[in-house]
Formats: sequence, structure tokens, C-alpha cells
Amino acid sequence: MERNEEKLRLYFSNPPEDISVDDISLEALPKHISIIMDGNGRWAKARGLDRSQGHKEGVKALREIITACVRLGIDNLSAYAFSTENWRRPQREVDLLMHLFASTLVRELPLFERENVRLVFLGDIEALPAKTRDTFKKGLAETASNTGMTLALAVNYGSRAEIVRACKLIAQEVAADSISIEDIDQDLVSSKLYTASMPDPELLIRTSGELRLSNYLLWQLAYTEFYVTDKMWPDFGRWDLLRALRSYQGRERRFGGVGTSK
Ligand code: IPE
Ligand code: IPE
Ligand code: MG
Repeated sequence: MERNEEKLRLYFSNPPEDISVDDISLEALPKHISIIMDGNGRWAKARGLDRSQGHKEGVKALREIITACVRLGIDNLSAYAFSTENWRRPQREVDLLMHLFASTLVRELPLFERENVRLVFLGDIEALPAKTRDTFKKGLAETASNTGMTLALAVNYGSRAEIVRACKLIAQEVAADSISIEDIDQDLVSSKLYTASMPDPELLIRTSGELRLSNYLLWQLAYTEFYVTDKMWPDFGRWDLLRALRSYQGRERRFGGVGTSK
């Protein structure tokens, strides 16, 4: 994707000692970075604050990472904001999050416009509270023709539910005789997932040190490189993103083969 070298340098000026944008090859960036934004609650607890405060700080971190990815020229950024299992949380926290999603989206629409970001959602947004759902749909409509980075927010997303949904969509096409069973292949399954318009992520980042997927992109992450940091999501910033990219660029991806270094 197009990258403004000047804006990039400015955004990554005054680097800390251990990392700078020069440590990253801009020619070998992933086309899709995905993030499990975890640790908002623990961030707040460690400061004696309410969990809601952690979520609000988490929004700021996401804003910084969106801008950083735009500056770097990343084509696709996806982020896990609310899982199908997160409905199990206290009603108060669920309500707060739904409200936060809606108000944040309204506030950030000008940013998406300015930075040419196209918004998509992963997950069943029809099942969200009306105000949140309607705001999301407005965001979808208003950014649909943007041609810069695609930002995919996973809200009411669960990977197993997504795969079941894909199975049903395919079964319907078979039942309607528009395809035959022999037509079912990996590309067809991929095309029925919420991520249909995006390539699979090359890099998955999870904050707060948890070593699990929590029902996120099980199909799409088949060969993705993982980067886990102990930092809580509200503390994750542009330099951490560069650290993740440096780590990713130092890996050898094999896809089941024998690799190039042996
Ligand atoms: C991630 O932070 C944000 C959401 C799941 C909405 P958490 O709320 O999971 O924070 P922890 O894991 O309890 O610290
Ligand atoms: C995963 O985090 C979901 C999001 C980041 C939105 P959780 O905090 O819900 O995951 P678990 O419960 O620790 O596995
Ligand atoms: Mg968590």
C-alpha cells in the first residue's frame, strides 16, 4: 500500500534505545497484522482503577496502533474487541463496552476518513444492542469506498461460530443446487468467513502474556507467526508494534517445507 515516507519518519521519531523504524524492512511487512487486545482489566486493577478505565485506555492504544499501521503502509489490520464468550461478563461491563464501541466509532470516523481507512466487522453485529449495531452500520457505509488500510474489528466474534456459519452457507448452496459437493474446497470455505476480503494474517500479536487463542481466527491462523508480549493492551504502543515486526521479520516461515537455511 502507498506510504508517505515523511509522515512515517515523523510518526516514528524520537525512538527508544532498543528499536527504531530502521530496524524494520519496509519491503517485507506483513499484509495483515492481527491483534488480540488483552489485559485491559488487569491494567486497571494494577492501578486501583475500575475495569472500565482499562477499556477506555485500551481504545487509545488501538488508535495509536491504527495510525502506526497506516503510516507503515499495512494493508490489513484486525483486532479482537469482543468475543462471543465475553457476554458472560457482568452486565455492567458488557453495557459499558457496547457503549464505548459506539461512542468511539462516532468519534473516530473523521480519522478513518482522513486516513482513508475502510472499516469491516468480523462477527455477528446484528445481535448487538441497537445503538451499537446502527453506529457500526453507519461506519461501514461511510468508509466502504475508502481505498487505504482495511481495519477489521472483531465484535461478537467467535471462530467456531464463524465456521459453523460458513458450513451453513455452503450447505444452502448445495441444497439449492447452485454448487455441487465437489466444488467445496479451502478457497470456498475461506470465502464464507467474515475475513473473506482479507488475506490470512502473517502476524498475530497477543498482549498480557496469555498463550491461547480464545476462539480467535482458528482457520485463518493456520500458518501465522505468533508474537506474545507481557505488556497489557493499554501499554502497547507504536514501539511495541515495531518490536513485534522485528521479531516477525527474523523468523523463518516454512509452511510445512524444510525451509531455506538448511
Ligand atoms: C481485553 O481486556 C478487552 C476485552 C476482552 C473486551 P480484558 O477485559 O480481557 O482484560 P483482562 O484480561 O481481564 O485483564
Ligand atoms: C479474548 O480475550 C477476547 C478479546 C480480547 C476481545 P479474553 O480476555 O476474553 O480471553 P480469555 O477469557 O482470557 O481466554
Ligand atoms: Mg482478558
